[in-house]
Amino acid sequence: MKILVVGGGGREHALAWGLSRSGTVDRLFAAPGNAGIAEIATLVPVSAGDVDGLVDFAQQEAIDLTVVGPEAPLVAGLADEMQARGMAVFGPTRDAARLEGSKAWARELCERHGIPSPRSRTFTRIEPALAYLEELGDPPFVVKADGLAAGKGVTVAEDRDTAARALEDCLVHGLFGEAGQSVLVEEFVEGKEVSAMALTDGRTVVPLALAQDYKRAEDGDRGPNTGGMGAYSPLGFVDDDAESKIAAEILGATARALADEGVRYVGVLYAGLMLTAGGPTVLEFNCRLGDPETQVVIPRLRSNLAEVLLACVEGRLAEQELQWAPEACVGVVAASAGYPGRVQSGKNIAGLESVRELDGVEVFHAGTAARDGRVLTAGGRVLTVAAVGSDLDAARERAYEACARIEFDGMTYRRDIAAGAARTVR
Ligand code: GLY
Repeated sequence: MKILVVGGGGREHALAWGLSRSGTVDRLFAAPGNAGIAEIATLVPVSAGDVDGLVDFAQQEAIDLTVVGPEAPLVAGLADEMQARGMAVFGPTRDAARLEGSKAWARELCERHGIPSPRSRTFTRIEPALAYLEELGDPPFVVKADGLAAGKGVTVAEDRDTAARALEDCLVHGLFGEAGQSVLVEEFVEGKEVSAMALTDGRTVVPLALAQDYKRAEDGDRGPNTGGMGAYSPLGFVDDDAESKIAAEILGATARALADEGVRYVGVLYAGLMLTAGGPTVLEFNCRLGDPETQVVIPRLRSNLAEVLLACVEGRLAEQELQWAPEACVGVVAASAGYPGRVQSGKNIAGLESVRELDGVEVFHAGTAARDGRVLTAGGRVLTVAAVGSDLDAARERAYEACARIEFDGMTYRRDIAAGAARTVR
């Protein structure tokens, strides 16, 4: 089988790594990939946003399956274009990808189908949005740009003034352009965050192992929001009952809601959840795998990833039963100084060879580039060190041992990924 992976982050490296171990993959391509992916796949100099370029490449190379990592090409219609040319693609169509592409549409879907979600309303004018803050009562509030805003469109406002400024940024100053022309104002819900991802072929829904992601830049959940600074799996604090509820009342119910509305959804259904005292509630949906959650979930998957993804595309997911390793996995993201703000690239990354000597550790590259036999930084999130171990403590220890062997100018990473999580294992 010839597979094309679209994207060039840590998630796509983990996907390519999982696919390369499938045994049924003869050729693996990645567009555009990164220095780590280049070790296991042929890089294609086409960006993930170049829909025409990707479709042309897949057709010329007679790719059997295209696996799309990021959301932007899905929201832009990559799956539609590929399907129109008769090609197999893992990822939802533009219509289905509205689940992530429009937070307002996703909220309305939840409301129509009774899927638990926070109180929320969507506004295009500032005055009624400010009035709704009064109606919600006491802060905090959550203000979200409706469309894709490169992970920067959500503000958790501790007070009314901050919420008002976030609304002004979108609705008056046009900070996020079209993506911020509609804004959601929501109640803040408390609890523990869980990344619940599932594969679906539009009929069958198969949940993946649950993971938890660390979104803030600094230890102790301080600092700005990021794309994710680390993750771990499994989650000891989610008991069987809660896991079944998530599978049935969130993931299954969402797939059914989409089907009932005539939307065929093939790919990853990712619900960012808050486990509240009253049960799980949906903070947001994504139409693709999480990053860095993928980097800790794929190493635990024992099933043949290529076969599973192909079964999804061919509507045969019901035939698949996923097998998971009992081991835990902890992933620590190493970022460039300044991330999530401006960063400097081109720094030499040392120690990658030394990490290869460690059992159970994979380094999934994100912002890296190869030059003259060296690996250099090329972005904010540079790599994820993912380590498996007999339990979360063992995995954590290995991950941090590996981090200590890696060095680049300005390297920064959180020291508290999965700290204390081992104590909550069932
Ligand atoms: N780690 C969060 C996300 O992938 O959206």
